[in-house]
Amino acid sequence: MTKPLTQLPAWKALAANHKQMQKLPLRKLFADDPKRGERLTVEASGIYLDYSKNRITDHTLELLAQLARESNLGVRIAAMFRGEKINLTENRAVLHVALRAPKTETIIVDGENVVPRVHAVLEKMAVFSNQVRDGKWKGYTGKRIRTVINIGIGGSDLGPVMAYEALKHYSDREITFLFVSNVDGIDFAEATHDLDPAETLFIVSSKTFTTLETMTNAQSARDWLVKRLGGDRKAIASHFVAVSTNTERVTAFGIDPANMFGFWDWVGGRYSMDSAIGLSTMLAIGPDHFHAMLKGFREMDEHFLHAPFEINMPVLMGLLAVWNNDFLGAQTVAVLPYEQYLKRFPAYLQQLTMESNGKHVTFDGREVDYQTGPVYWGEPGTNGQHSFYQLIHQGTRLIPCDFIAFAHSLTPLGRHHDILLANVFAQAEALAFGKTPKEVEAEGTPKTLVPHCVFEGNRPSNVIMADRLTPEVLGKLVALYEHSVFTQGVIWNIDSFDQWGVELGKVLAQKIVPELESAAPPKLTHDSSTNTLIRRYRRMKKDK
Ligand code: F6P
Repeated sequence: MTKPLTQLPAWKALAANHKQMQKLPLRKLFADDPKRGERLTVEASGIYLDYSKNRITDHTLELLAQLARESNLGVRIAAMFRGEKINLTENRAVLHVALRAPKTETIIVDGENVVPRVHAVLEKMAVFSNQVRDGKWKGYTGKRIRTVINIGIGGSDLGPVMAYEALKHYSDREITFLFVSNVDGIDFAEATHDLDPAETLFIVSSKTFTTLETMTNAQSARDWLVKRLGGDRKAIASHFVAVSTNTERVTAFGIDPANMFGFWDWVGGRYSMDSAIGLSTMLAIGPDHFHAMLKGFREMDEHFLHAPFEINMPVLMGLLAVWNNDFLGAQTVAVLPYEQYLKRFPAYLQQLTMESNGKHVTFDGREVDYQTGPVYWGEPGTNGQHSFYQLIHQGTRLIPCDFIAFAHSLTPLGRHHDILLANVFAQAEALAFGKTPKEVEAEGTPKTLVPHCVFEGNRPSNVIMADRLTPEVLGKLVALYEHSVFTQGVIWNIDSFDQWGVELGKVLAQKIVPELESAAPPKLTHDSSTNTLIRRYRRMKKDK
């Protein structure tokens, strides 16, 4: 067994290094090393990462790489790719990397090579997608499908909706794609408001096919469709398909298993957008683009598996996240894509990062004595600049930022893209170098205003750049973050692949539902606050 994290030599050395670093602001680091902005960069498979504006020296980087070695990161990466059951609390393999493995690869789980199964599902998805896209798949009344609605939540929604928005440029505009996730009936009602059921296809996406929100929405969808198409349940077959690991439940719901697209327990929900959960993505962009996305994922996987830590992009990003979080005390990370098509990327990353690394005990159940997963959040630039960036520049908290930008716009329009990119570079520059009182005074600023106009600077950021947002590049970006999250989890010695923390609320909600619905006043045994809220709601809902 390795030593506890805070007892590792590299951890202790990093703590000492952090003390020294306080005397070395980014201004000085850049002034002392004119080539820093060229040196502290890395390129992998067309993705460029400039990490020079982090509060680190070469020595910090050496120590972080040493920390990765002392934490056995290499061994853990190899174990994941081999299909070992590294999700210990659920006794499962973690094989999202198998979802993009080439046909020729062999990855054994429980004595079986899973790669042929992955490709069989991809082929089934392609046949179905082509039928729908070509108008050959007909609805119950013989009309072609014009609207696809993915019903799912969490990993069965965020990946699909993010990918659809990100790759809209490549999508078939003859078909409208909608996503229903919330159990709030408004989500379903608004999505179906003006729809013709005869032209609507529902994809019920749920790994377990038991999730309350998804099953409630799926039942409402089934009722909506059957009622509006004349009451014949036979209509379900032409308007519902399922993506799940649970054939029994899919069948019980009334969907023909022939119209089910499977995946496996070794694909975590938040790591599933490139499995059959991506069916809506494939329907939107077509099988060829979907395969290009898988190729992108694969290229970043290969890089993560083989590149030395010092030039391994996901490892570097993960280690820098640990540094900012545990040594600099940053509680959050802002993800700021300067690309409107990536508007749902921060929301997607929230589940990926926070459900993975929001853990307070190590693998062996010991309470950690260091911080684990930070809060991820963000919005596309430049919009955020006019709302929350003030706090990032001049607030009292340290908020490391990941800026994401592309050299080319997919829809070039006049000067827009140069202006957009000028803003990314300017923001990273302003955060790092700020503006001193002297500089502010030199601008003739009235004395009383000087403190207000000073920018401390020394605020860390990464800039990630790629040529343009293609399906392939999206795959690389997502894999980059997946593996960065894994790197962080390995350092923190936590299980990044379970999610026990979401269970308690689910169980309590199941208990409360009948207490809200019963005709007779229920015997309430919660705390006084919950009991009072339930009674109040029961009273209020009687008043129409
Ligand atoms: O509640 C959390 C969670 O289990 C996520 O991990 C998952 O992505 C989501 O719910 C949806 O689960 P399912 O795909 O089984 O409906």
